[in-house]
Amino acid sequence: MPGFEVIGSEEFEQVADVFRNGGVLFRQGFDSLRNGVFKVAELERVFAESMGAVDALAVTSGTAALRVALAALNIEPGDEVVIPAFTFVATAEAVIESGGVPVCVEIDDTLNMDPMALASAIGPRTAAVIAVHMLGTPARLHEIVHICGAAGIPLLEDAAWGCGGSLDGRMLGTWGRMGTFSFDFAKTMTTGEGGMIVFADGRDAEVARAWHDHGHDSNAAVPRWEDTRSSSGFNYRMMELQGAVGLAQFAKLDDIVQGQRTSHEATWQALSGLEGLTLRSEPAGSHATCDALVFETPDAQTARKCRDSLLAAGGGTKILPEAVTWHFAAHWDHMPTLAAQHRGGLRHAFPASEARLARCVALPMSAVGSGLSPDAIRVAVEGAMRIS
Ligand SMILES: Cc1ncc(COP(=O)(O)O)c(C=O)c1O
Repeated sequence: MPGFEVIGSEEFEQVADVFRNGGVLFRQGFDSLRNGVFKVAELERVFAESMGAVDALAVTSGTAALRVALAALNIEPGDEVVIPAFTFVATAEAVIESGGVPVCVEIDDTLNMDPMALASAIGPRTAAVIAVHMLGTPARLHEIVHICGAAGIPLLEDAAWGCGGSLDGRMLGTWGRMGTFSFDFAKTMTTGEGGMIVFADGRDAEVARAWHDHGHDSNAAVPRWEDTRSSSGFNYRMMELQGAVGLAQFAKLDDIVQGQRTSHEATWQALSGLEGLTLRSEPAGSHATCDALVFETPDAQTARKCRDSLLAAGGGTKILPEAVTWHFAAHWDHMPTLAAQHRGGLRHAFPASEARLARCVALPMSAVGSGLSPDAIRVAVEGAMRIS
């Protein structure tokens, strides 16, 4: 829990700056009115630079970021895209919107894509892989990069929760060909709604930039309304007010991540003495964003009791165990493309993930130490364990 906790005068000032300079809300053009103020372009520049990426493209949401990245890969009808069974529905939706077919695979003890499951899911129709860093913990990227590289399949990272996190010093989102981020209101940094794509390859950036803007080539030799076109596209452009808020939030990103990490450490210190709880695994070298603290309990019943007990104490949980239906493919029978891919039997298609997720509890982590104290969390969880 995240950027929204620290929204303040910096965001206000950035937005005011747009209005002080002509109030141009569109990300490009209107040069005579705007005094050289381009908030979205500036956000892309600082974001790409700090991530160590070749380029970055701001868009309207994390879902849009996935959709545009898949367009840059030129996913064709029937192409398969391998994704983890535990993610937000958006990952699967973006694949389906692209005309592709999501192929969901089991997760491992990091609660992210199991590299072995990925290796066995790759087939002749696999056109891309999307690794997701759920709740800010890195997936096993070394193994995933290796598998994708050996198979010659492009890797995208859905780093919706991974903004500001890294593995072995390399930022999440920059391990594959493209990385996508969400800036929705629940994310580590927020623009209300918004997202970003980072690129390892300048050509992908060019294609994505045009596609997210109705196919505009942004040809400097002609005015915008006479612009040249190389592809079709859509409108996923970020607007200047979002860019302005994003700049203020981005300046706070390291502090937000550090704040969440501090809360995580203090909370686990309070819980770790309780018998029967196991902290979620992370790959060695992880610098997780610690959006949530996830622990495993002995069984699903205990996980539920922990939630009830935390709610009664005035706190709560995040995604696990209560909102797993939005985040676990076993519950996505409303997506016919996905259900058909798994021959209609989604409910028990991922037994290892199902068993593990049912035992897990995720606690939201504050960037500023608000909410239930670590001691109060311990008392609530201890009470739940006792009556189980
Ligand atoms: C893993 C994952 N991918 C994509 C998204 C979509 O992001 P947005 O809400 O900005 O569209 C989310 C949102 O929660 C997410 O958790």
